[in-house]
Amino acid sequence: MNDANKSCLKGVGLTKIFGLGKQRCLAVDHVDFDFKEGEIISIVGESGSGKTTLAKMLLGLISITEGDIYFEGVKRDISSQRKKKEYWKNIQAIFQDPYSSYNIFRKIDTVLLDCLVMRGQKDLPAEEKNRLITEACSFVNLKYEELTNKYPFELSGGQMQRLMIARVFLLKPRVLLADEPTSMIDACSRATILDMLMDLRRETGMTIVFITHDIGLAYYVSDSVYIMEHGKLIESGSADEVILNPKQAYTQRLINDVPKIHEEWDLSTVDAR
Ligand SMILES: Nc1ncnc2c1ncn2[C@@H]1O[C@H](COP(=O)(O)OP(=O)(O)OP(=O)(O)O)[C@@H](O)[C@H]1O
Ligand SMILES: [Mg+2]
Repeated sequence: MNDANKSCLKGVGLTKIFGLGKQRCLAVDHVDFDFKEGEIISIVGESGSGKTTLAKMLLGLISITEGDIYFEGVKRDISSQRKKKEYWKNIQAIFQDPYSSYNIFRKIDTVLLDCLVMRGQKDLPAEEKNRLITEACSFVNLKYEELTNKYPFELSGGQMQRLMIARVFLLKPRVLLADEPTSMIDACSRATILDMLMDLRRETGMTIVFITHDIGLAYYVSDSVYIMEHGKLIESGSADEVILNPKQAYTQRLINDVPKIHEEWDLSTVDAR
């Protein structure tokens, strides 16, 4: 990719402290990163290491205790509601629990129509809106006719996750944060979801940030990998560098936690020597 080295999302000294006194929790501790345009990045770490907190700061859903975020080289400014809305055109997320992402009182048609409104396509003719929405649904193997008049809670976990990808397809943000996007579904649908996200990247050049416990998944999908431990990014580099040749004991431990894939990696390391 030509602009592979262009900075998309950058964090400098990013820190989040929750609570005060005895309740104080240093969830994210002075992290630095530079996600390049069109890259697929994975952030891998154990439960409680601060991954979701970092994602929420990037999205502007929680305040930042210290540090700065730069989007496409410019310091992020979300000081007003209008600026926030502008920013959210560029960055969208798929969360661990898809049910938490929707207002349950809004029907699916409305959820998808809202995406067009957000993109400034409110005044398109009804047939055109319908065409765009139908296209987005078929991209994720959902039938729009079967979804109309339904509420999100009437869908299965897997359908819900695909609906979220349909939203991303309509919104076409520059960055997608996917926080354990495949946690609710079986291995087969999981591969399909990942393939859909890869297709989206190919079609739109969007930057995708995967957040996961699963270092095997990170190896499979990403260009770059960041390892997170107790709120710190302790190791980063290309997926091959970090996973085939880890420098930190913690990274090695995460790899050991995936026994089956680890055996395969072990073999490849032996072959390489
Ligand atoms: N709103 C909050 N108030 C207080 N502490 C919080 C809050 N949100 C998260 N934390 C704390 O911050 C730390 C990091 O949590 P976070 O959810 O970012 O971890 P995670 O890496 O996403 O974990 P998991 O893999 O289980 O999703 C944890 O110790 C958690 O208890
Ligand atoms: Mg999390």
